[in-house]
Amino acid sequence: MIAGILKESFPDEKRVALIPPDVPGLSKAGAEIIIESEAGTAAGFPNETYREKGARIAEKRGDVFASSDVLLMVRGAGANPQAALSDIQLMKEGQIVIGLLDPFSTPELVQELAKRGVSSFAMELIPRITRAQSMDSLSSMATITGYKAVLLAAEELPRMFPMLMTASGTIVPARVFVVGAGVAGLQAIATSRRLGAIVQAYDIRPASREQVISLGAKFVEMELETEKTEDKGGYAKAMDEEFYRKQREMMSRVVSESDVVITTAAVPGKKAPILITEEMVKGMKPGSVIVDVAAERGGNCELTEAGKTIKKHGVTISGPANLPATVPYHASQMYSKNVSNFLLLLVKDGKLTIDMEDEILRETLVTHEGEIVNAHIREMAGNVRMHRDG
Ligand code: NAI
Repeated sequence: MIAGILKESFPDEKRVALIPPDVPGLSKAGAEIIIESEAGTAAGFPNETYREKGARIAEKRGDVFASSDVLLMVRGAGANPQAALSDIQLMKEGQIVIGLLDPFSTPELVQELAKRGVSSFAMELIPRITRAQSMDSLSSMATITGYKAVLLAAEELPRMFPMLMTASGTIVPARVFVVGAGVAGLQAIATSRRLGAIVQAYDIRPASREQVISLGAKFVEMELETEKTEDKGGYAKAMDEEFYRKQREMMSRVVSESDVVITTAAVPGKKAPILITEEMVKGMKPGSVIVDVAAERGGNCELTEAGKTIKKHGVTISGPANLPATVPYHASQMYSKNVSNFLLLLVKDGKLTIDMEDEILRETLVTHEGEIVNAHIREMAGNVRMHRDG
């Protein structure tokens, strides 16, 4: 069984899907590793570090496609839409593809994977269950995102984060408000605290209150009906517009008192809810900073422009894209562990086997034997076709 690692081709993508320390574990399970030359260099893992662990280097990208039974990647299909089609042309029938595929954004590319006859697994679809925690790449990447969002805010803020008592006077600590206390939000709280800020946070899932407090932040209490905000999987549900209107009203004061607002609120499969309006931005002090990590999903702030940092009403609003790629060493380390653990689920007696009884494999499988097997994506792809055909 040969597992191939591709060099990422998405602009500014510096991560790599497998790092050298994870090669021996896969070799022991019966996998031979072939890696496209320089695939790990940008993340800090040059070719020789792979060779030392027994991996083979392929000079040509096409060789990785041609010789692999399973392809490991960070971004494929919808997560790398410009290059996806040319990559899909190089795939072989029966090949297994594992990566972040952003399958909901571009169902037409998923259709191409199906046509090609590959079995593709989208790492985004890993269920948030205990057994899958070590494969949960959305969580590992969100950890990095939360950390980096705070550093971006600190860089933009014309103040310091910590309180300092100096001979030149006292510096008051920055006030940070984190909206959404999921994985990214909790890491943003922890990082802001480490830098010395006074941190407040809010999430609509009541269970998050305790976690926020355990990190030394204050949970902002709001009189909102939050009993039915969480689904069975522990994710937030989409609320109606009246709920969000009330929430914005109640958050206005905290937002206006904060130097930094970090927004991470997300509902799976939905556009991010708008929680900060232009009026609320106008109410902030000049020089304040909003870092909206939900930017790529529409943003939690009405003024956010994805991938840009802008200034409006004296406030800096940053909508960063692909933050994990800006910390490529550790992002690759975490992703590589997630992907290797996932691949090991597919290996039985040194052979690749897709066990549909396994919940993790079933939930993440997107295409198989020429079909889109994920019902939701199949429906979306059908709609795209209908739309296109008239
Ligand atoms: P998560 O699902 O763990 O956390 C999202 C949190 O938002 C949940 O705790 C949820 O309860 C909360 N939430 C939902 N509606 C809310 C509301 N109205 N008010 C307050 N909280 C609300 O998600 P995770 O993994 O922490 O990701 C957060 C965001 O960061 C997502 O939008 C994700 O797409 C984005 N992201 C951005 C990256 C970047 O480079 N900019 C990289 C990785 C993730």
